Amino acid sequence: MAEKKTAKAHTKTPAKKTVTKKARQTSKTKVGKPQKRLNRRRALITGASAGIGHDYATLLAEQGFDLIITARRKDRLQSLADRLETSYGVNIHIFPEDLSDPRAPTRLVEKITKEGLNIDFLVNNAGYTVPGNFDMAKWQSHADMLQTMLTAPTELCHLIGVGMAERGYGRIINMASVAGLLPGSPGGTLYGPIKSYLIKFSQALSAEYHEKGIHVQALCPGFVLSEFHDIAGNREQMNRLPKFMWLTGPDVCRKSYESVMENKGPVIVNGLFYKILGTVVNILPSNLATKLLSLHNRNATPLSRDIRDTASQSAATRK
Ligand SMILES: NC(=O)c1ccc[n+]([C@@H]2O[C@H](COP(=O)([O-])OP(=O)(O)OC[C@H]3O[C@@H](n4cnc5c(N)ncnc54)[C@H](OP(=O)(O)O)[C@@H]3O)[C@@H](O)[C@H]2O)c1
Repeated sequence: MAEKKTAKAHTKTPAKKTVTKKARQTSKTKVGKPQKRLNRRRALITGASAGIGHDYATLLAEQGFDLIITARRKDRLQSLADRLETSYGVNIHIFPEDLSDPRAPTRLVEKITKEGLNIDFLVNNAGYTVPGNFDMAKWQSHADMLQTMLTAPTELCHLIGVGMAERGYGRIINMASVAGLLPGSPGGTLYGPIKSYLIKFSQALSAEYHEKGIHVQALCPGFVLSEFHDIAGNREQMNRLPKFMWLTGPDVCRKSYESVMENKGPVIVNGLFYKILGTVVNILPSNLATKLLSLHNRNATPLSRDIRDTASQSAATRK
């Protein structure tokens, strides 16, 4: 159900216009220089109820963006909205959605359109992993993950990008991962391939939107402190990793924001360690790199909710 947090949302002129050279120019807006109150731009952030999405919403509010935030946990979205409205005086709309529902992207954009709102900044962030090897998890778990993390962000770009192009301004962040730059490895099997897809998709979209004032970024952090590994059930194991492997959400978001505003390129890797890792792995022969990265499986144990019912599955295939 749609929740409108603030009655008076600022709306900009939705008129279609030609993209001038000036409009295409790279903005030099940096973190720390918030937009003025009038003519504020608006951002949509998926997965804003926790972790990196929560931090991105905070950063954009700090920068003076009005926000539309979405995720499944409405109570979390509500308390974030209350806090950011009080701290930064921005307008926030809450539209809870479960992005594993194939109708969610259209429903979300319909709600936004009904309110007469435009999106200038899209952060496709919602995500998680399905631990365990490919065969261990039921198909529905894989399908939900593909819908939430691959189809939904792609569809949101399709639904929202066209309006950005018409208005000659847009910023799109597709939350990928260093995992998308590395060879596929066992456990959480589809996670890396989905992130690789988001990287390639963002590169292609960035080239297509080059002349339209839209900057597209695939954001590729390494491990970030968030709820991600609690949800994946491997927090204890992850806690054994050295400190230098951990990034913080606010740092990741700040780097992403500055890079996308300056149009520094469609792929941004966070953290020196991960930049080196990505480079080294791509220099190595691909089969050797795959072998090395397959030596350890951090996502070997499936969650009980994902486990496939092998008995009924083999009965079905025998028929
Ligand atoms: N943490 C890392 O080490 C790391 C590294 C690289 C990339 N990433 C990526 O960063 C993104 C955010 O992860 P995070 O680390 O911030 O994890 P997190 O703290 O667990 O946050 C995940 C967010 O995604 C939302 N979400 C999950 N399933 C959803 C669904 N079906 N529909 C709508 N929203 C959904 C969650 O909200 P609800 O539960 O309220 O729906 C939550 O807001 C993910 O795409 C992840 O792959 C994370």
